[in-house]
Amino acid sequence: MTGPVLTETIARPRLVERLVVGHATSDGAGVDLTRLLSQELQQRLDPFLLLDAFGSDDPEDYIAGFPDHPHRGFETVTYMIAGRMRHRDSAGHEGVLESGGVQWMMAGRGVIHSELPEQQEGRLEGFQLWLNLSAKDKMRSPWYRNIQCAQIPEFVTSEGVTARVIAGTSHGVRGAIQRDTTEPLYLDLQLPAGAHFAQALPPELNAFAYVYRGDVRIGEQTVAQQQLAILGNDPASGGIVVHAQMPARALLIAGRPLREPIARYGPFVMNTQEEIRQALNDFREGHFAET
Ligand code: CO
Repeated sequence: MTGPVLTETIARPRLVERLVVGHATSDGAGVDLTRLLSQELQQRLDPFLLLDAFGSDDPEDYIAGFPDHPHRGFETVTYMIAGRMRHRDSAGHEGVLESGGVQWMMAGRGVIHSELPEQQEGRLEGFQLWLNLSAKDKMRSPWYRNIQCAQIPEFVTSEGVTARVIAGTSHGVRGAIQRDTTEPLYLDLQLPAGAHFAQALPPELNAFAYVYRGDVRIGEQTVAQQQLAILGNDPASGGIVVHAQMPARALLIAGRPLREPIARYGPFVMNTQEEIRQALNDFREGHFAET
């Protein structure tokens, strides 16, 4: 939309604290996916609770989709790289998510939804991220936005890096979604060989990068395709610098930690066990469908 944009200069870029390789699992009605961020990282990467990657050319791996299931207490962000998926929920929303688009759903006090492939063949690829809500926001009314590919602001740097700004602000470009409290930054970067991308970021924000094409270097560390790099919170660091050694694509995600207790049971994420019991009760008694 704008550009070219000059690359920012970052003092003491963050280092890779740990590399994470996802594990294969299946969810919904048997969709094959790779879980990159799971429960054991939800404290370290607070406010993020989960990141799944799905990608297959074989309809057998995805065709059954995710039939009706509930969520309470957090937000789900689905980013499609390729394919079409239809969303329907108990709050009366319906929409088709297409290649390059994002669905942002604030489940709040409760939603029941389905996410089903709108295709019988071809590639389906994308990501689902779970973003926690603060205690004060967990019981708000649900909302959802279906953001088409063309509605996601993007810019190109002087080195030819294309940055899509799904959430937050980068290089003065405001993303499609802005959220208070957790202040998520969600960038999809496309880097030509030899280019670098720099992002200013306050050190207290938790941040990670996930490489899904090619590989990149962060500090001295190579981050290979399908690796997630947790980036350290050095208090003297001004942000993140990613170098591409070959053409690469990577997600860069950051957010402000909530530092609140996390009580999680399946698709319910609250602060206490009592609130989890309440969520299960409300779901069983059909109260989610009323929101
Ligand atoms: Co869902």
